Amino acid sequence: MNILITGANKGIGFETARQLGLQGHRIILSGRDEARLDKAAKALSFQGVLMDTLMMDVHSAESIETAAKTFSNSTFKLDVLINNAAQLDKADNSLLRDDERILSETLTTNSVGPLRVIRAFLPYLNTPGARIINLSSGGGSMTDPVGGWSPAYCVSKSLLNAITRHLAHELEPKRITVNAVCPGWVKTDMGGKSAPRGVERGAETVVWLATTRETLTGKFFRDKKVIPW
Ligand SMILES: NC(=O)c1ccc[n+]([C@@H]2O[C@H](COP(=O)([O-])OP(=O)(O)OC[C@H]3O[C@@H](n4cnc5c(N)ncnc54)[C@H](OP(=O)(O)O)[C@@H]3O)[C@@H](O)[C@H]2O)c1
Repeated sequence: MNILITGANKGIGFETARQLGLQGHRIILSGRDEARLDKAAKALSFQGVLMDTLMMDVHSAESIETAAKTFSNSTFKLDVLINNAAQLDKADNSLLRDDERILSETLTTNSVGPLRVIRAFLPYLNTPGARIINLSSGGGSMTDPVGGWSPAYCVSKSLLNAITRHLAHELEPKRITVNAVCPGWVKTDMGGKSAPRGVERGAETVVWLATTRETLTGKFFRDKKVIPW
């Protein structure tokens, strides 16, 4: 399969690329910084992963359009699109007191960004059967108890969950599936050093959803099980 992963130069995205690449899938490794992307690409090539790189800053509509235009020159279509890139602002503490810029930038990267990526790459998805996987978070759940941490980030993942459900419905006639995944609390630059999970476990459900023979859509998963929105 041909698999595009956004924000894949480190963390869960990189590990997802590594695991799927080692299974023999072709990876389109995407990132916003050329040097960081090249370093990640070298590390994957060294492990024998078949791969292309694609520069894309998901915060920028223009960058997403440029990336889609670049991709349109490819001789193949995408089987899986993984919206992994996201930001968590260290100063994200209060919806009432924080500078509105934090909420606005977080929503643009984490919610509107994935939607824009899907819109831009839709013509290049294989139909029927293509899969879209959005990296969400338990922090975006409307049923988990509110933890009081990074509220703008949590709101952005609630919105991403809502977008996931609506797109699953809208893309059903094309038989494109759309799901959200919470990777759990994972040791990465975003998750921090205290997180109990390693990246292997964090990527596990994404890799499973990308490759399972089951047709699943409009759902939210953690540890390969459906969880409440
Ligand atoms: N770690 C956790 O505990 C946890 C828990 C729940 C959900 N998640 C979700 O899992 C996904 C991966 O998180 P992670 O823990 O692996 O985070 P991470 O280590 O901080 O990696 C985030 C990745 O996203 C990229 N990125 C950020 N903003 C971008 C932009 N505007 N355009 C393109 N790429 C961008 C980063 O690129 P740069 O290197 O250029 O910054 C990096 O490659 C995210 O969606 C996150 O919300 C993580």
